[in-house]
Amino acid sequence: MNQSAHHIAIVTGAGSGIGAAIAERLAHDGAKVMMNDIDEVSVKAVKDKLISSGIAADHIAYQVGDVSHEGDMQALFARTLETYGELSLVVNNAGILQQKAFVDVSYDDWDKMIAVHVRGCFLGCHFAIPHMLKKGSGIIINTASQLGQIGAAELVHYATAKAAIIGLTKSLAREYGQSGIRINAIAPGPINTDLVLGLSKDWRDAKAAQLPLGHFGEPSDVAATVAFLASDDARIYVGQTLGPNSGDVML
Ligand SMILES: NC(=O)c1ccc[n+]([C@@H]2O[C@H](COP(=O)([O-])OP(=O)(O)OC[C@H]3O[C@@H](n4cnc5c(N)ncnc54)[C@H](O)[C@@H]3O)[C@@H](O)[C@H]2O)c1
Repeated sequence: MNQSAHHIAIVTGAGSGIGAAIAERLAHDGAKVMMNDIDEVSVKAVKDKLISSGIAADHIAYQVGDVSHEGDMQALFARTLETYGELSLVVNNAGILQQKAFVDVSYDDWDKMIAVHVRGCFLGCHFAIPHMLKKGSGIIINTASQLGQIGAAELVHYATAKAAIIGLTKSLAREYGQSGIRINAIAPGPINTDLVLGLSKDWRDAKAAQLPLGHFGEPSDVAATVAFLASDDARIYVGQTLGPNSGDVML
């Protein structure tokens, strides 16, 4: 039996790209998964696809909501506990991207970027940790980006939010490691999803050419990193930032 089999997991932003691949990987490994997304059409399509691929209907569910909204996140956690009676893994993955010169970033652009990523991860941790503390165990995986490690021109608000997620992850790992909660981050490089397709083709072509591996990763590559961090094989990983990134950033 795969080590993810015992998990009862929340995956945010599971209607597309990396989040959908994480939900799929965990479900196929035997976990019960509660997906979140702000877009009902896409997350329902992921649920339908997983059920038609053989996942039991009582192993996959979704709750629509905005990760930056306290009430929506509270409802997500309440629904998970109601539906599955338990929670062992939270993957904070939902995200947005916006390419703009820094001087064109409006207050609203800035606030939204920080809200979806930083407040979203904060709320995911805020509602998970008290439950995990009671149990004395739990795993949280926060989705940062390699751009949070190295910075990025024209993506200043995005890179700033991702750097904050790494700081949040390290700090919580220090605070709760001895309470049995393992908190880590992932910092993917360029992965073939809708989010990256929103960047200019010139940028994407130039980026692929300079990667040590010569090509972008796939969402399933990131899901494999999550499956590892969620497994007992990763039992001594805390506060780490793992990089499925085609060799783009080497730390
Ligand atoms: N694709 C990449 O190259 C890459 C690289 C590094 C990090 N990431 C990060 O990985 C995560 C997933 O990105 P992706 O590439 O799969 O993008 P994607 O656009 O394919 O998927 C993101 C999902 O999040 C959902 N979402 C957006 N805002 C939300 C909100 N407020 N509440 C709930 N759901 C919301 C979207 O509806 C979408 O389904 C993001 O955090 C992104 O920053 C992606």
